[in-house]
Amino acid sequence: MNLFNVYPLNNITITKAQGSYVWDENGVQYLDMYGGHAVISIGHTHPHWVKSIEDQLEKIGFYSNSVIIPIQQQLAEKLGKISGKEDYQLFLCNSGAEANENALKLASFHTGRKKIVAFSKSFHGRTSLAVAATDNKSIVAPVNETDNVIFLPFNDEKALQQYFNNFGEEVAAVIVEGIQGVGGINIANESFLQLIRKLCTQYNCVYIADSVQCGYGRSGKFFSHDYAGVNADIYTMAKGMGNGFPVGGILIAPHIKPKYGLLGTTFGGNHLACAAALAVLEVIEKENLIEMAKQRGMYLMNKLKAIDTIKNVRGKGLMIGFDVPETIKDLKNKLLFDYNIFTGEAKPNVIRLLPSLALSRKQADEFLEALNEAIAAVKTPNLKEKVEKVAE
Ligand SMILES: Cc1ncc(COP(=O)(O)O)c(C=O)c1O
Repeated sequence: MNLFNVYPLNNITITKAQGSYVWDENGVQYLDMYGGHAVISIGHTHPHWVKSIEDQLEKIGFYSNSVIIPIQQQLAEKLGKISGKEDYQLFLCNSGAEANENALKLASFHTGRKKIVAFSKSFHGRTSLAVAATDNKSIVAPVNETDNVIFLPFNDEKALQQYFNNFGEEVAAVIVEGIQGVGGINIANESFLQLIRKLCTQYNCVYIADSVQCGYGRSGKFFSHDYAGVNADIYTMAKGMGNGFPVGGILIAPHIKPKYGLLGTTFGGNHLACAAALAVLEVIEKENLIEMAKQRGMYLMNKLKAIDTIKNVRGKGLMIGFDVPETIKDLKNKLLFDYNIFTGEAKPNVIRLLPSLALSRKQADEFLEALNEAIAAVKTPNLKEKVEKVAE
C-alpha cells in the first residue's frame, strides 16, 4: 500500500533526536531550528518527558472520559498556574485544528450566533470550521465554504471597527493568532488585540486567541496575546503542549458555562497525553524556559538584524521570521543540505525559526555562523568549495 502523497518531502530519515539536535539514519547530525514545526518546546526526548510517559504507560495508557482521570486535574492546575489563567476551565483534545474547531463551536453555542471574524493570512487548521476560517482558498474544500466566516485585513483597526458598527450583533467570535505563523510571522499589534477585546466585550461575542503556534511560552510570554495586556475568552493550544506527543486543548473563561454533551472527544485528555503535557509544564517551570525563550530570541533577533542581506527580521521570543531576497532564494535548502540545519518557511520567501525553547546560546551561535556562511555561499555559488580547497 502507498502512503497518500500529500507532503513534499526532504529526502532525510530522522532516527534519533536529543535537545535541539536530530540525527539521520547515516548518523549525520542536524541542528533543529524548526522544532518539527514549532512543536518541540522543551527539547527532543527530554529525559523528564520520556520518563513521565514511560511511567504512565506502565500504569495505564488510556481510558475514556467516562471515568475520573486525576492527571487531567493536575494538568489543569499546573497550566492555570503557569499561564496565569487560574480561573479558566480546560477542555482537552488532540490537535490544533480540533482546538480551534471546539473553540469556534463553543463560541457559537455560547452566543447563539453564526458569524466568525477571521483575518487575512490566518491559519487555523484543516477541519471544517477551522479551515473555513483559514485564509487559503486552496485548502478549503467546497463543503467547507461558508458565508459565516468573514475575512478582514489583519491589523486594520478601522476595518474591524467598521465591521462591528454594521454587524457586531451577529458576531459569535473573532479568531486571531497573536503572531501569525503559517502566514509568515506577522505580529498582531497590541492596539489591534486591545480593540478586539473591547469590541468582543461590547458586542458580547467571544475573543478566541489562537495560540496553537505562538503560545506555550514560545513568544517569551505564556500567550503572545499577553503582550497586549488583554485576556481572551478562549485560548487554543497544541504544538508545544506535548513536545511531540499529540495533545491540544482550550482554556475557557469562567463566564462561558459548561453543559453535559456540549463538547466531547474519545482520545482528548487521555492518561498518556496528560502525562506528556504535565511533564512539559514541569520542565518549562524548572528550566525557566519562557524567560529563556525571550532572552535567546532577543539575542538571535539582534544578530539577525545586523545581517544586511536578509530583510525585515521580526518576531518575539523564539518565533522569528525574516524575508529572503530573490538573489539568495536557495538559502533554506543550502542551510539544510550543506550546513545540516532545519529551518521553517512561509511562502513565498520567509524563513521561520521555531526552535526548542531550550536552545542554548552556543546553538544560537552555531546557527548564526552557518547562516552567514550559507548566505555568502548562495550569493557566490562556488565560495564554499573554494573555502574548503584553501583549507585543504
Ligand atoms: C496557528 C495555528 N492554528 C492551528 C493549527 C493547526 O494545528 P494542527 O496541525 O495541530 O491541527 C496550526 C498548525 O500549524 C497553526 O499554526
